[in-house]
Amino acid sequence: MNRPETAGTLRQVHPTAPILDVKGVNLRFGGVRALSDASMHVGQDEMVAVIGPNGAGKTSLLNSLSGFYRPQDGEITLFGESILGMAPHRIAKAGMVRTFQGIHVLSTLSVIENIMLGCGFNARSTLFESFFYHVLTWREEMALRAKAEEIADFLDLGLVRHQPVGTLGYGLRKRVDLGRALALEPKILLVDEPMAGMNGEEKEDLARFLVDIRELWKIPIVMVEHDMSVVMDLADRIYVLNFGQVLAHGKPAEIQTNQDVIRAYLGGSYRAGGAA
Ligand SMILES: Nc1ncnc2c1ncn2[C@@H]1O[C@H](COP(=O)(O)OP(=O)(O)OP(=O)(O)O)[C@@H](O)[C@H]1O
Ligand SMILES: [Mg+2]
Repeated sequence: MNRPETAGTLRQVHPTAPILDVKGVNLRFGGVRALSDASMHVGQDEMVAVIGPNGAGKTSLLNSLSGFYRPQDGEITLFGESILGMAPHRIAKAGMVRTFQGIHVLSTLSVIENIMLGCGFNARSTLFESFFYHVLTWREEMALRAKAEEIADFLDLGLVRHQPVGTLGYGLRKRVDLGRALALEPKILLVDEPMAGMNGEEKEDLARFLVDIRELWKIPIVMVEHDMSVVMDLADRIYVLNFGQVLAHGKPAEIQTNQDVIRAYLGGSYRAGGAA
């Protein structure tokens, strides 16, 4: 797949400008303040983690970034342009692509077909319906298939490429889901609890792919994750959410020793190697 050399004019003009900039976002559901004056930024090629206890607002933040929730106020800019209030598919088209908590794959389709859904098919009930509606040319289909094959190889899914996804184990299905997101050619990737439900080996594999996506493909990543050892190992910077507010942000070593974080979120029992 051809990775973009640069992901937008702003990046060309101001190489140090944040790709994603979030300022003072407030999101309320009736009396619940899911996000309170939340601000964060993500720079080129950064891996940024968002952590916090259950209900802290992590998914609400990702939903606000990706257009699934509309914050009442604040600013969200992607490559210098406001995306607040933009529909999810337009935000994805602008380059910010997400995966969801849980699994979002079509279990009767093969690995390659699932990844191809990300490449340009809309999710109709079957791939053949998609062909029918989109009237893809043979050449277009070949190009999409080649891209999906490349992603499958990258994610070490080559051996199971033609297997229905429903027959695969949990870790592989999550990997297919990641492949579908990559097929959208993200300029920034948002992942919500990518390791949840995985065993140690599956986590190690996925961690390696996330590092490669960032380092080889130069795609910055925002990762919501509960596993502290994963977060401390992978993240360049961490934002800690608590009751919808950014309680602290900084490098892993700073977060590990931040007294507010230890007291208010992680508690006295926090260990760098443990889960939150
Ligand atoms: N669609 C919604 N309608 C009403 N309340 C919501 C909605 N989405 C989130 N909330 C509320 O916002 C708060 C933050 O929830 P959110 O799902 O963002 O937390 P989280 O940090 O992702 O938690 P978890 O670690 O359990 O995934 C919670 O109080 C939740 O009940
Ligand atoms: Mg969540």
